[in-house]
Amino acid sequence: MSVKIIVGTQWGDEGKGKITDMLAAKVDLVVRYQGGNNAGHTVVVGDETFKLHLIPSGILYSTVACVIGNGVVIDPSILLGEIERLAQQGVHVTPDRLKISSIAHVILPFHKLLDGKQEEERIDGSKIGTTGRGIGPAYTDKVARAGVRMIDLLDASVLEKKLRSRNWESVLPNHNLNIDDVVNELCGYGEQLRPFIEDTSLFVNRAIQAGKRIIMEGAQGTMLDVDHGTYPFVTSSNPIAGAACIGAGIGPHKIDQVIGVTKAYSTRVGEGPFTTEETGDMGQYLREKGCEYGTTTSRPRRCGWLDLVVLRYAIRINGLTEICLTKLDVLDGLKTIRVCTAYDTCDGRLEEFPLDTSVYATAKPIYDEVPGWEEDISQITDFSQLPQNAKNYVKYISNLAGVPISMISVGSKRSQTIHLLKR
Ligand code: GDP
Ligand code: IMO
Ligand code: MG
Repeated sequence: MSVKIIVGTQWGDEGKGKITDMLAAKVDLVVRYQGGNNAGHTVVVGDETFKLHLIPSGILYSTVACVIGNGVVIDPSILLGEIERLAQQGVHVTPDRLKISSIAHVILPFHKLLDGKQEEERIDGSKIGTTGRGIGPAYTDKVARAGVRMIDLLDASVLEKKLRSRNWESVLPNHNLNIDDVVNELCGYGEQLRPFIEDTSLFVNRAIQAGKRIIMEGAQGTMLDVDHGTYPFVTSSNPIAGAACIGAGIGPHKIDQVIGVTKAYSTRVGEGPFTTEETGDMGQYLREKGCEYGTTTSRPRRCGWLDLVVLRYAIRINGLTEICLTKLDVLDGLKTIRVCTAYDTCDGRLEEFPLDTSVYATAKPIYDEVPGWEEDISQITDFSQLPQNAKNYVKYISNLAGVPISMISVGSKRSQTIHLLKR
């Protein structure tokens, strides 16, 4: 038996899709436990690029089954579109390969409108820069005990009753959604998805009992966590490892490993403080070299240096047992690389991440400078072949983080990976 959780240690887009795909080669089941189609996970196989938003990144192996757990919020039209797109790319998502939790909450058309309206109404400085996919309003309704769940799409009368019990006009005056149309549309999706919908906690726990190897694939990242991230500039779910138990319906003692995915530098999409951000030429250089444009919204990602205060925080909050370091190749050709080791703040020098977002927002990064390397490392598959300064950078990170680095990614393809740990 082996259950591994994969989590982002920064603000998302660390390369979780690639790492999940790499590790999925040797597992039986991959489970998404939170988030929704705000996520965009890119997996490159040969010349084909797959962009996954809701379906777990294990789907590309015909031997792997995938689960969308109860902690995920599902936009059924997007999910059906994703299934169709995968089919066009030769990946057939059949009910034996994808299980959808009957109690996962549904993103309604109202939620998408509300997401846009709420963002519009936030004054400058408090805008979040959401993906506009309805994520926040869907989770809000879930917690308010007013949500619609996947199982409700299978019975038109239940769905209609739920939708009519709400006064949508009070939150969305002049919306042009007609409840009959919404019920018809959603029940149509429900019929198409019916064969996929089941009790996924039962399915996952039976798989654990049968000794299957399982990955829990996190979306977003630790610093976007609604509890532990840079609140309020966060998403509305808990991407951290602890949430995998809730979002999949398994017990904590079933987890064996927690793998953090860390980009060799930092990026952030949307608003909110970002201490190591480089707003000038350096940021632009990293954005172009790293192709840092959003998988979901195509927005340019803000770029900056690696922040070890954030990484150590992520190690603590998630209980990481190892780190996969991604996009090391993007740093090729830099004379020196900066790494933030502490903050200079109004409360003095801090080595631990401050929970007061206003302290973090005004913190000045304290940098170490490490020498870079000239060579192109994107084809190297053996650690010993890396330039000495690239080896030093990796060792420096793992020493200061205090957690082993098990894998280094030097390109988006499966082959562009250095394994430091035999599995
Ligand atoms: P995720 O949301 O964490 O799965 O990450 P995204 O897929 O949104 O963004 C990561 C981007 O970097 C994708 O375009 C990947 O194909 C790409 N990528 C992943 N690993 C590497 C790497 O090691 N080097 C380079 N250059 N690109 C990578
Ligand atoms: P993956 O899984 C990067 C960001 C948005 C915004 C904030 C809230 O690909 O790493 P939301 O729509 O969730 O209410 O937006 O969170 N965000 C992400 N940033 N990667 C993601 O997912 C993200 N999902 C949400 O940009 O700042
Ligand atoms: Mg992404």
